[in-house]
Amino acid sequence: MPLTPVLTKRFGTDQPWKIENYERLDGYAGLRKALAMQPDELIALVKDATLRGRGGAGFPGGMKWQFIPQNDGKPHYVVVNADEGEPGTCRDMPLMMNDPHSMIEGAIIACYAVRSQRAFIYIRGEAVHAIRRVTAAVQQARAKGYLGTDILGSGFDCEITVHAGAGAYICGEETALLDSLEGRRGQPRLKPPFPATNGLYDAPTVVNNVGTLASVPYIVLGGAAWFREMGPEGSPGPSIYSLSGRVTNPGQYEAPMGTTLRELLELAGGMNRGKELKFWTPGGSSTPLFTNEHLDVPLDFDSVAAAGSMNGTSALMIFDEDDCVVRAVKKWSQFYEHESCGKCTPCREGTYWYVGIYERLEDGRGTIEDIATLLDLSDNILGRSFCALGDGATSPVSSSIKYFRDEYLAHIDGRGCPYPAATSGVRTLAGAH
Ligand SMILES: Cc1cc2nc3c(=O)[nH]c(=O)nc-3n(C[C@H](O)[C@H](O)[C@H](O)COP(=O)(O)O)c2cc1C
Ligand code: SF4
Repeated sequence: MPLTPVLTKRFGTDQPWKIENYERLDGYAGLRKALAMQPDELIALVKDATLRGRGGAGFPGGMKWQFIPQNDGKPHYVVVNADEGEPGTCRDMPLMMNDPHSMIEGAIIACYAVRSQRAFIYIRGEAVHAIRRVTAAVQQARAKGYLGTDILGSGFDCEITVHAGAGAYICGEETALLDSLEGRRGQPRLKPPFPATNGLYDAPTVVNNVGTLASVPYIVLGGAAWFREMGPEGSPGPSIYSLSGRVTNPGQYEAPMGTTLRELLELAGGMNRGKELKFWTPGGSSTPLFTNEHLDVPLDFDSVAAAGSMNGTSALMIFDEDDCVVRAVKKWSQFYEHESCGKCTPCREGTYWYVGIYERLEDGRGTIEDIATLLDLSDNILGRSFCALGDGATSPVSSSIKYFRDEYLAHIDGRGCPYPAATSGVRTLAGAH
């Protein structure tokens, strides 16, 4: 499959994180062009490009920017969500390590478009390497006059602050992130009001994912029509897919939105050891599982939704015929139980109950009622939780029962896991924590 990289075009070149090397390959040309445009023109351009947010929900980027009130006399903020905690997701970190300036350039353009003079980049606390790299890149941008006062003689002033999070998955949820950024415990806020009107310090705020903002300089330079040429009409543009697990060459693969797993597997050298694909996540552990029947589903927001799952973060965790789905879902449930912030009962209690049941199933104490209880718990968490973490926790549970009920029954009838290698931990499950 011939590919023309956009977001990753600098990966593998000589020290692409250095500003001089970035500038050599069109770096900051988008900002120069943007500053010669009117802010509203930029918003219209991003809308016209149909840039959908890469953070998981696929919200239209231009529309989010347009929601920011104008002439309201309040400061406005842009917050870059670089928390990247979704299991299996690994594309924002490589982007920040290889090409931090594309995200920084996109953030400055976003600030100009929404009349903000301050952006915050909230990076997962454990990712010290990324924090260092992005901090250095911001300093380089400031030294070159892309940040600070009167940027490139345009009269526009803008500053960026890099903030290290404290390593909680929930702090990737945009309102929990804002609380964390303000110095409080990261827990989701009630919505509405939305961040567009009452965000950071109660001021209008745009929260965008790293990949969303890194796409912006390319849209400014290439135009909306060029961007829309890549992928399907409803969710076009380049996407970085992270493939992990039982593939020959796991890693990041950039391809247009709408690429299928069959095509991505070809790029990644196929299934490891020639094994059969059994199940996979199209967009991280919070998205309902797919099976080998879904190899040809175009991986974009609308097509994946039509096939019964979610594109999420394009994190494809691949499992083969030797992997136990019950064990994989147990591991994910343990993750959600651990990361549940505890604010609401369905998620806090439900994820705790999930784990207890999966432990029983795995060590041979499961009963037939456990399957019904798992489904009942899922019904009580989905749509009844305060934020999308709870909803996400139900995805692997209900989808695995839908596609692999027999495997649950085998755990009950056989008094334990029929995959002894998996339970003994000889084969570690990729993506599971
Ligand atoms: C539990 C949870 C964790 C999330 N983690 C992230 C994250 O690490 N990075 C991210 O960009 N979005 C994350 N999101 C989605 C954000 O709430 C938000 O939708 C996103 O940052 C918006 O950016 P976008 O419009 O550019 O996609 C998370 C959502 C939830 C519910
Ligand atoms: S759904 Fe979970 S993470 Fe979200 S507010 Fe409720 S307890 Fe916290």
